[in-house]
Amino acid sequence: MDGVKGKKIVIGITGGIAAYKAAEVVSSLVKKGAQVKVIMTAHAMEFIKPLTLETLSGNPVYYDMFSRPGAWEIDHISLAKWADLLVVVPATANILGKVAHGIADDLLSTTIMATRAQVIFAPAMNTNMYTNPIVQENISFLKRKGYMFIPPAAGRLACGDYGEGKLADIQDILETIENYFSRKSDLKGVKILVTAGPTREYLDPVRFISNPSSGKMGYAIAAACAERGAEVELVSGPVSIAPPPGVKLYRVETAQEMFEKVMEIFLSCHMVFKAAAVGDYRPETYCPTKIKKDSDKLILTLVKNPDILKELGKRKGKCILVGFAAETENIEEYATKKMREKNLDFIVANDVTRQGAGFEKNTNEGLLITREGEVIAIPQMDKKEFAHRIIDEIIKRCPALCQGAN
Ligand SMILES: Cc1cc2nc3c(=O)[nH]c(=O)nc-3n(C[C@H](O)[C@H](O)[C@H](O)COP(=O)(O)O)c2cc1C
Repeated sequence: MDGVKGKKIVIGITGGIAAYKAAEVVSSLVKKGAQVKVIMTAHAMEFIKPLTLETLSGNPVYYDMFSRPGAWEIDHISLAKWADLLVVVPATANILGKVAHGIADDLLSTTIMATRAQVIFAPAMNTNMYTNPIVQENISFLKRKGYMFIPPAAGRLACGDYGEGKLADIQDILETIENYFSRKSDLKGVKILVTAGPTREYLDPVRFISNPSSGKMGYAIAAACAERGAEVELVSGPVSIAPPPGVKLYRVETAQEMFEKVMEIFLSCHMVFKAAAVGDYRPETYCPTKIKKDSDKLILTLVKNPDILKELGKRKGKCILVGFAAETENIEEYATKKMREKNLDFIVANDVTRQGAGFEKNTNEGLLITREGEVIAIPQMDKKEFAHRIIDEIIKRCPALCQGAN
């Protein structure tokens, strides 16, 4: 936790049953040398007394937006500017809803609105509240706007129900805070190409062959790289998600278009993540007008598309090449074979038959396999955190990537 030493962290506490757990977060951060200031909502003070947080943080607790400050400064502005990081723990459904809708009606929500610092939410609530589509939509919206989340755990909740909604483990919260500071800017000066999404291979103007790739994994990698300061170029097939902030997006449709764009860009890049699900074949002929259903049988002849990954492997030079393998059996064996055949440096192997991995899911789990044959198992987690974990492991093995670029 040395990463937090000297950092200025604002902890926001809202009115949930897990409010008392914020005391441990504050205490641990202070012990590790962070400067901590606490903002509590009025409802949070129904659960835990400010005196506890005041004693643990060694600072006054802030809760009243209209209190008269001793010196002439306005609390929500000065706290917003002071913070290197703002963590809301626990985060109620209410605070998520308020921030998502631009409501600033107390000191915490107003400070969140006013800060340029990263804000991390650690939600905790009853499972029916957490899975409520409105709460989920607010979370998705906030993620798209760059807010970070520490997802709640599943288990027995204080109300006696079982399910998702339990505040994440305190150690996970502390680790996320530490990771935030250690990851910040470690890819500054590094140029990264990410490919994402499916490709479409048209038969005629209205029909195509494709696959169910949502692009979520590739977009999560692009977002994670950008958060760490990299210059990111994202070549994406057709998807329905918004590009992450700070990423240069190139939209393509066919494998051939993706091939051409990737070949044009990759030479100037230090690293390539090839997360797109590229169609292996395309129809041999394209009919410029809609094919009519005149005959009982329609026989399609398919021809091979360019193998983008293989071509990158041939031309890659010093560029670090990371491939993805979606498999349904013999995961490690097939992925390793693909890595060798295509001259990759790393491969991320997923078993797409597993509950928490694969197309369209918000979580992923899998193996990161290195060229040297090391196999690192990454457990199920949110796709963005999965992306960060892959990057952490790659950086550990390729320190020159950061040093060389800085
Ligand atoms: C005993 C009790 C426990 C509560 N626990 C939670 C909780 O864990 N998560 C949550 O979102 N709301 C919880 N609530 C409801 C919030 O306190 C309520 O929505 C409140 O308006 C939140 O205000 P705040 O976000 O400004 O702190 C709880 C309420 C009570 C009475």
